[in-house]
Amino acid sequence: MAAGRVSVFRPKRLPKVRLGMFSPPDERGGVDLSAERQTYKMSVYKAIPEQHGSAMTSLDFDRTGRRGKDGLERPLLGDRQWVFAHLSDPHIACADRIPWRDLLGKRLLGRLRWILYRRIGYSAEMFSLLQDDLRRIRPQQTVVTGDLTHLSLPTEFEAARQWLTSLGAPTEVMVVPGNHDAYVETDWEQTFVRWLDYMVSDPPYREQGSLQGLDDVFPTLRIRSGVALIGVSTAHPSAPFSAVGGIGASQLEKLAALLQKTAAQRLFRILLIHHPPIPGVVSRRKGLTDAEELYSVLSRFGTDLILHGHAHKNKYYTLKMESRSIPVIGAASVSSAERSRERVASYSVVGVTSSGDGWDVRIGRRVYSPRAGHFVDGEERRFHVP
Ligand SMILES: [Fe+2]
Ligand SMILES: [Fe+2]
Repeated sequence: MAAGRVSVFRPKRLPKVRLGMFSPPDERGGVDLSAERQTYKMSVYKAIPEQHGSAMTSLDFDRTGRRGKDGLERPLLGDRQWVFAHLSDPHIACADRIPWRDLLGKRLLGRLRWILYRRIGYSAEMFSLLQDDLRRIRPQQTVVTGDLTHLSLPTEFEAARQWLTSLGAPTEVMVVPGNHDAYVETDWEQTFVRWLDYMVSDPPYREQGSLQGLDDVFPTLRIRSGVALIGVSTAHPSAPFSAVGGIGASQLEKLAALLQKTAAQRLFRILLIHHPPIPGVVSRRKGLTDAEELYSVLSRFGTDLILHGHAHKNKYYTLKMESRSIPVIGAASVSSAERSRERVASYSVVGVTSSGDGWDVRIGRRVYSPRAGHFVDGEERRFHVP
């Protein structure tokens, strides 16, 4: 690969995951991920919608039922907690005319889709409302799980850089990229270099030498108040009409080492990833091609919470393994103009408190309310991690 180009991971084979074996979203089910090797099994449990009754999962999520009350402002989390915000999928698109030379190939399809459908699905107004809300919530860290841009144009990367700057300093904001940030092959210097300080690990854990591609940067590690924020990149260019992602063997190997190290340090570990790690959450065309390999790493070394984007839906899941259960939280697009409960513009505020025998975690949604004209409290969940 020539220097100065975005590092590209291309899956060498078709994913082994057999989506047809997954339970429908509203049912619980055991799922065989690897019919060929029969090496392990994954169970996917989805939160039962509130109107259908009681809470789910072996993690005993405690639903407090705090629904959004328009205009009623109250702090989501107590003072003792370490609080961070999880945002995803802003899809900052270039509103100006785009030169035709930049619209060759997949970008042309993406631009047409934007003109025909997507631009009505996103709201530029949401960015200023979000900023106002974050100013009030004052998270100690903000994490962004990808798709900051729409066509990975240099102008979009620059606009996203400005947006990141509005959220906070690079030490306060942590980014993992999404498939739209690597929509096509791009010039590294014109794209990801602009966000490098928002993506990289804390200095002690940073890769030495020059960073020339995403595989040089990721996985990343930042440690804040006993919490390890671990980022992986699933972003790589893919064929037209494809939105797949992949972590790749190199990152997975380093990820295993990071998880092992942070477990030994007894940190609360949060994995940040753009693509949902659970097959079946999105279609195969949009899926994580090495979900099986990631599952294998997680089953050996664990993590305490997974935050993802990409599906543009507010979702709670549990990734069940023989030895552990991992809560998985999906986020809607923070700039969504849609109104459904799953897809409305929102973000999560996560509070982590060290308790005597582990960690108390509270996850509250801040949800855009069209009636109030700003973000309000949404659903809140709590769980304990021993
Ligand atoms: Fe997205
Ligand atoms: Fe995506």
